[in-house]
Amino acid sequence: MEHVHHALRLGQSGEQGFRDIKLVHNCLPGISSESIALYTRIGELLLSSPIVINAMTGGARETEEINRELAVAARETGLAMAVGSQMAAIKNPETAESYRIVRKINPRGIVFGNLGSEATLEQALRAVDMLQADGLQIHLNVMQELIMPEGDRDFRGMLERIQTIVQRAGVPVIVKEVGFGMVRESAEKLIGCGVGCIDVGGAGGTNFAAIENARRDLPMDWLNDWGCRTSIALMEVLEAKRRLDRQDVAVVATGGITGALEICKALTLGASAVGMAGAMLRVLRTSGTEALIEQITSWHQELRLLMTALGASRIEVLHELPIVITSETAEWCSVRGID
Ligand code: FNR
Repeated sequence: MEHVHHALRLGQSGEQGFRDIKLVHNCLPGISSESIALYTRIGELLLSSPIVINAMTGGARETEEINRELAVAARETGLAMAVGSQMAAIKNPETAESYRIVRKINPRGIVFGNLGSEATLEQALRAVDMLQADGLQIHLNVMQELIMPEGDRDFRGMLERIQTIVQRAGVPVIVKEVGFGMVRESAEKLIGCGVGCIDVGGAGGTNFAAIENARRDLPMDWLNDWGCRTSIALMEVLEAKRRLDRQDVAVVATGGITGALEICKALTLGASAVGMAGAMLRVLRTSGTEALIEQITSWHQELRLLMTALGASRIEVLHELPIVITSETAEWCSVRGID
């Protein structure tokens, strides 16, 4: 709950880099709004919407209420949803209900489990079983752990454990950052381990350096700007796919996404889906479940509007459109040799 409170209090900087990305207007789109389809694929999973309610919470009584309300919104709008780290329930099974509620509320929806890269295969199997999960997210949050006084300090064996989980979890595995961004070198290693879906988890939205600093007696605020923005992390991970010639790897763009224009830009750059955590939480906690359902419905309508204007009837068509990358994102790509 401390994470929830600090995330809401600190908000999002809006510096996720999407101002650098310019969609190219098309005055002859040649399609009808009626023909727009929002479904997308993440590996073998078919999602009816490209928006995913990303991992946040579970483990305490109040978090069960949040998960219940998020699950209602996910069910009513057809969104896939991830729970927060299930390590609390693995260590303390009495708290499992705060996660299971998501499956109870939404028996036929797409639900993702969530654990950190310290998880063993056995723990991963329990996490999937707990929710009858359709997929498992493994989060990478090294900088968050290092700032947390009680956090991990030993990061050996992460890739090896991820590889074992990918091979034997029995469901698709999504490896995600939590807001510090992933770069090409890391993405290449993950793809090399068999990971079929990467969530870039870039900076510019919920800031876990700032959140953990707010929980420290002696804050290390000089780390609050650590990491790479979502626009840049997305370009980095897409470059890893390109260099390895692995067009089958799905990329999810998370980090500071708060509206349809950013969603559309991320999809046009090449993401198959976008994750939203802080923005979902804010609407839910300030205005309630019905308001969240209305907000998600508006995002869908606005995305349809943008896709009509761009002449893209499906998400895959967005991937083929021209796009202009400017300013810091362009400079970064040029320095890093990203096309
Ligand atoms: C998170 N996030 C997160 N991620 C994860 O993999 N496991 C977790 O347990 C949590 N917990 C969590 C709690 C809260 C309150 C928030 C807001 C977020 C990270 C989340 O999934 C996402 O990667 C980041 O928040 C960046 O996205 P936004 O918030 O900028 O849209």
